[in-house]
Amino acid sequence: MSALDAAEILNRARAAGTVVPGFNIPYLPMMGPVVQALRDTDSFGLIAVARLEWEKFESRSLEAVAAEYGRVADARHTRLHLDHVPVIDEDNLTVDFEGIIARAIDAGYQSVMIDGSRLPLAGNVACTRTVAGMAHAAGIPVEAELGAVMGHEAGPLPPYEELFASGRGFTDPEEAGAFVRQTGVDWLSVAVGNVHGAISAARKNETKLAARLNVEHLRRIADRTRVPLVLHGGTGIPKPCILDAIRNGIAKLNIATAIRQPYEALKAQSVPKARQAVYDQVVTIVRDELNIEGNARLIRAALPVATGCAPCTVSHEPLTMNH
Ligand code: 13P
Repeated sequence: MSALDAAEILNRARAAGTVVPGFNIPYLPMMGPVVQALRDTDSFGLIAVARLEWEKFESRSLEAVAAEYGRVADARHTRLHLDHVPVIDEDNLTVDFEGIIARAIDAGYQSVMIDGSRLPLAGNVACTRTVAGMAHAAGIPVEAELGAVMGHEAGPLPPYEELFASGRGFTDPEEAGAFVRQTGVDWLSVAVGNVHGAISAARKNETKLAARLNVEHLRRIADRTRVPLVLHGGTGIPKPCILDAIRNGIAKLNIATAIRQPYEALKAQSVPKARQAVYDQVVTIVRDELNIEGNARLIRAALPVATGCAPCTVSHEPLTMNH
């Protein structure tokens, strides 16, 4: 299993009709419980950090996250992924994305994401091509985003029902097909009704809205791209929508708010309790929301299944984390 690279893991997940969750780490002590929960549920996940999590939260730096990963990783259950490296960030600042990607490759990240989605299409294509060249030279896959997955920006979202009904910002299926061909990107993050949880100081504790997904639209994107698709904004999407999305091309699902908020609620009182809350939440997500308990075995064996979730054959006793 340890020989499987991240690209192969997502390809196998997609072929098997399962999903690989990416869990974001805005606080370094959250990582150990995430890894342990993945191990205890025999599932596969990516340990992820986005630039905004070392800029605005407490994961310190991509190197600090890689060092913590080196301490707690389990190659049978995890890979290290660099999430959103924006070209223009949520505050409209220009980012040295090539410098960050180069540092991530040096630090041993096993996949990276370039986010040129705030640029016009040609700019998004150009930066994604550049990063795909860097990542592929280092032998790792690259994810990019096309369309607008909103939510990270300060201030309120436009009214969600209006956004969903109009399809404003949704990834265009034809454009997505051309984008994948022109850039050589391995995984594509799409906008089909999903939104990110808020991260601004004023709104980061809000309960996230229950976003829905236009799965017909997703299917059209999947038909034209034929690469594993990524769903950002995984917190709060109703389970039937998630399972339908997994059956229609989503092979990676990003989750941040659902584990960050329980950690933040308890960390001042007790870090062990906050870590236990993260562990419990990851077990619940894996077992009850994504139905992927046991999917590491499925991915290792690469058993072809047409659709649906991984078989749940691991016992369902309550698990407790050892601190
Ligand atoms: P949520 O905060 O909605 O789970 O989104 C996480 C995400 O997409 C990180 O890239």
